[in-house]
Amino acid sequence: MTEQDARSLLAQHGQSHVMKFWDRLNEAERAALLAQIERLDFDSLARMQTLLNAPVETAGGNPTAPHVIEWTPETYAEAKARGEEELRAGHVAVLVVAGGQGSRLGYDGPKGAYAIGPVSGASLFYFHTRKIVALSRKYKVRIPFYVMTSEVNNAATQAHFAEHDYFGLPKEDVIFFVQGLWPALDGNGQIILDRPGHIFMSPDGHGGTLTALDRNGCLDDMEKRGIRSVFYFQVDNPMVELADPAFVGLHAAKNADISLKLCAKRDPYEKVGMVVVREDGRFGMVEYSELSDEQANRRTADGKDLYFKYGSVAIHIFALDFMKREARKAMPLHIAHKKIPVCQDDGTILKPTANNGCKFEKFIFDVLPDADTVVNVAFDRAEEFSPVKNAEGEDSPATCRRDLQAKWARWFAAAGMAAPTLPLEIDPAYALNADDLKAKGLLLRELDR
Ligand code: UD1
Repeated sequence: MTEQDARSLLAQHGQSHVMKFWDRLNEAERAALLAQIERLDFDSLARMQTLLNAPVETAGGNPTAPHVIEWTPETYAEAKARGEEELRAGHVAVLVVAGGQGSRLGYDGPKGAYAIGPVSGASLFYFHTRKIVALSRKYKVRIPFYVMTSEVNNAATQAHFAEHDYFGLPKEDVIFFVQGLWPALDGNGQIILDRPGHIFMSPDGHGGTLTALDRNGCLDDMEKRGIRSVFYFQVDNPMVELADPAFVGLHAAKNADISLKLCAKRDPYEKVGMVVVREDGRFGMVEYSELSDEQANRRTADGKDLYFKYGSVAIHIFALDFMKREARKAMPLHIAHKKIPVCQDDGTILKPTANNGCKFEKFIFDVLPDADTVVNVAFDRAEEFSPVKNAEGEDSPATCRRDLQAKWARWFAAAGMAAPTLPLEIDPAYALNADDLKAKGLLLRELDR
């Protein structure tokens, strides 16, 4: 793109100010700015401007709670057997979204590199990847691991995996793909420069997964590998049961477009999203911020439970066919008011103390209304969900390590072994669950004799 092309494109969209420092820029800075302009998505920009002045949306209409499957020993066993077939046949891929910035945690690196291991200090990525190593060994199959990063953390994420030799997975089965970046807008719909000749950009949300998979050739790669189901999760939860065979099996048996694991909310106002059935009969997700007090506190007819009892913690399985259908559709945008550094007319940078601009994001669950078959299955939070989100308090490294260790201690009890002393840690590639640990314990006892 030439300077002239950039100027006319920007003028056409009322964004000429982006070039205002042009005369002060050196060659490299000019080239970098032109590259940024070339990558701007002006269609999305127009949608962002419309959203700036739109009223805040709340959950409209009268959504109802979906049917949520609760396992019985029989249904669990049946689904598990089916899921194991899918795994053995190499139909399952694993995908983590790790492009966000761990700003709430106050950690200055890719969140996945955060040291969570109570004994080893191993990273979140270690725990995730070692589970895939275990599954690959167990089912004698290659399981590709797709890792979504953003330009903010891609190099550091790849370096972390390389430094640890991909935690034991073949390098070619760890596929990094970079999500898109979007500009932020001020109150007048103008793109914000955060330094002379540089547009402030931030990741386009986990809803950017589909476009990023498509653009980076990952959907084709999955197809070539014979993948049918993609297990999706967030980087901050080391308790997740990756590619849990029963969940995989249920998804396959129901021929679902999307399957979701849901857990009972801690309280009516817990900050988790909720799957609902909308008035038009389609599924949807209502974020906690969109729920009215009446909806949050509504109880079932017998008064025993919250009506909207279950929250979604972003553990999903997507059918690859569904992902392919959705990848090129425009998704809704969500707006977030933020403090964004601004380059002032004299070239100095102002770090605001109050919100001065808006970032925009896409959310993966906004594909729900397009899904024809959605499976919701309940899970036990104590077994599978304890995310690292905040530096302290709830959902912090301390609560996560506590919950991990309590889970591992339960495995020892289930295997009839003496309760170990803390700190305790189990390499997922050694045992993925109580049954694995029990099998290892029997072996050790055998060797002792
Ligand atoms: C999210 C969900 C919430 C769910 C909760 C469970 C949203 C809007 N809300 O909240 O419904 O109950 O998790 O823990 O998602 N990410 C990217 N790229 C981005 C933005 C995020 O890859 O551009 C990744 C992050 O790295 C992280 C995940 O998405 O793995 C979640 O992002 P985060 O902003 O932490 O979501 P929450 O607000 O905690």
